[in-house]
Amino acid sequence: MSMSRRTVIAGAAAAGLTAATAGTARAASGRPARELFGRLADGTKVYRWSLANGGTRLRVLSYGGVVQSLEIPDRRGHYANVALGFDAIEDYVASSPYFGALIGRYGNRIGKGQFTLDGKSYQLSVNDGVNSLHGGAQGFDKRVWDVEGFTSGSDVGLHLYYISVDGEMGYPGTLRAKVTYTLTRHGDWRIDYEATTDKATVVNLTSHVYWNLGGEGSGTIENHELTIAASRYTPTDSGLIPTGELAKVAGTPFDFRGAKSIGRDIRAAHPQQVQAKGYDHNWALDKGITAGPEHVATLRDPDSGRTLRIATDQPGLQFYSGNFLDGTLTGTGGRTYRQGDALCLETQHFPDSPNHANFPSTVLRPGRTYRTSTLHSFGA
Ligand code: GLA
Repeated sequence: MSMSRRTVIAGAAAAGLTAATAGTARAASGRPARELFGRLADGTKVYRWSLANGGTRLRVLSYGGVVQSLEIPDRRGHYANVALGFDAIEDYVASSPYFGALIGRYGNRIGKGQFTLDGKSYQLSVNDGVNSLHGGAQGFDKRVWDVEGFTSGSDVGLHLYYISVDGEMGYPGTLRAKVTYTLTRHGDWRIDYEATTDKATVVNLTSHVYWNLGGEGSGTIENHELTIAASRYTPTDSGLIPTGELAKVAGTPFDFRGAKSIGRDIRAAHPQQVQAKGYDHNWALDKGITAGPEHVATLRDPDSGRTLRIATDQPGLQFYSGNFLDGTLTGTGGRTYRQGDALCLETQHFPDSPNHANFPSTVLRPGRTYRTSTLHSFGA
């Protein structure tokens, strides 16, 4: 069954896309369409945007810039949503472990939520034991973004804007963030992040999609094969704060330099894994910081044949193996998510960089523009 281009342009990119996720209909491109998704407790409207291009279909919420679903075909052309998510805004507000969300002002942890910049000490919102995680209690994932749809040449996309005021969650400076989600005619999903500040601050933006290339709710990702182009990773203390060491992956379960199934070493009695309940670490990418996105990781599901290739200009990649999923959340497909039912690959600067002089700097100063890009390419 194919959906006609006219239907899509007639608005509903949304209608076309909200139809069954199964089937082999190729995603038609067109202007992104918007519909009301729900309301926050204070009445604020949350919109859902639907866009499609090059065989990839994306649904994005104005709340947290959340990727609610991302549909791609398998080797037989059958579509599945490969990103974990919820059906209702209430679930995102009440209990989302950052499903699909934009993360800021600082992705991952800052030890004790404290850092010193230009001789001044700052105390951030602490929301993960004694540490600050993903920007604090009300990070960018819990904010409503201003969203604009666009088409440009053969690209289809969204611009998302958020202004984080001086002092929000303890961070200095008003930060103006702009994130662009682009679906290319090849069906690649590109994220371009930009930010400026009016006082020196620290910034580390990322995206927290939970991937399961077999389809969300289809079970474990332990059969997925992963490659990460990194010879070192940053070991952590029991609160998952880097110790500052850059340890070699060689001869450890952290070696993903050649394609390896995630399940192979996930139960190794390595102290770093026992502590993190699996993988929840930052890999120091061999290429370091680069001028443009370079390929750093490949994820492949041998059953469906679906592949995800990630390219970034960032120096680090957090691989989190869904360790805290515990069967208490029910996703868009009506099934519960258990430990290891998805994984995250977050391109980033290293966690807790503001407290480690040997890590690349995350300081942003007035007059400078923070810019970073990550590209997700899909295949089957
Ligand atoms: C990141 C962290 C994990 C966990 C998840 C969200 O990936 O590194 O420890 O907090 O986010 O549950």
